[in-house]
Amino acid sequence: MTSPRHYLQFKDFSAEEYAYLFDRTRWLKARFKAYERYWPLQDRTLVMIFEKASTRTRLSFEAGMQQLGGSAIYLNTRDSQLGRGEPVEDAAQVISRMSDVVMIRTYEQAIIERFAACSRVPVINGLTNEYHPCQILADIYTYIEHRGPIQGKTVAWIGDSNNVCNTWLQAAEVFDFNVHVSTPPGYEVEPERAGLYGTDHFEQFSDPMMAVRDADIVTTDVWTSMGFEAENEARLRAFADWQVDAEMMRAAKPEALFLHCLPAHRGEEVTAEVIDGPQSAVWDEAENRLHTQKALLEFLLLGRVN
Ligand code: CP
Ligand code: NVA
Repeated sequence: MTSPRHYLQFKDFSAEEYAYLFDRTRWLKARFKAYERYWPLQDRTLVMIFEKASTRTRLSFEAGMQQLGGSAIYLNTRDSQLGRGEPVEDAAQVISRMSDVVMIRTYEQAIIERFAACSRVPVINGLTNEYHPCQILADIYTYIEHRGPIQGKTVAWIGDSNNVCNTWLQAAEVFDFNVHVSTPPGYEVEPERAGLYGTDHFEQFSDPMMAVRDADIVTTDVWTSMGFEAENEARLRAFADWQVDAEMMRAAKPEALFLHCLPAHRGEEVTAEVIDGPQSAVWDEAENRLHTQKALLEFLLLGRVN
């Protein structure tokens, strides 16, 4: 058995492969908007395993698979043997014999890597503690759609150096742009955990106002990610000065976009004025999860189709 291609972290694909995926995304999105049927994945089944909550990821994968003519099955830890100690390796053997592609949202990246090592079919990371590659796939597509190429641009990440931040950092190496990260003390980027090759594409700032200066994208995320709820009180105190507000947006370029993977907490990591304001592209960003992941599913299951 040859080992299938997986999508476990952003650097698993090259810039050239992303360019192909974005071309397909554009085409798939246009067809979807025109209600034109395109069913290349008839008789194919996606299994989605969720160990954490989700709205967008579940919806975009399930709707996307159906729109491509396939079907999607939802499993969660609570109602399956996965929550009762069945080894990940055994689950991977069984699930991958009954399906064509698997998407997993879980805790440690090591879990998804163990699953992938025993899977006969492609495995997609739908979020781990370390990474969220499908999110940044949609985010970069959204930026390109609104503003053109991202190469050479500056992304300001304000807040927690979490899974989404780590993925931006990997994307900066693939696409050759810069990330300015500002976190409170004690929450800085850990390059090894972020899976970086080097430190050429990012810079850390103690002052968030310095990080956003002349940025092309200003982005943030919740202060407390799923799995870290016990730290919530301490984080609310530590992150209070890392709220993206109108003053920060004014320090960025006038044409800067505001992005947020959602769900958002208005009044914590971002003000309502910014997320609901004219520079915010968060609804396009959320919608593009659907279109970019359809391109990803098509690519992993059928390879290049043009
Ligand atoms: N952005 C994102 O992954 O959202 P969900 O947690 O709703 O899937
Ligand atoms: N960093 C957040 C992203 C949610 C989509 C989390 O992991 O909870």
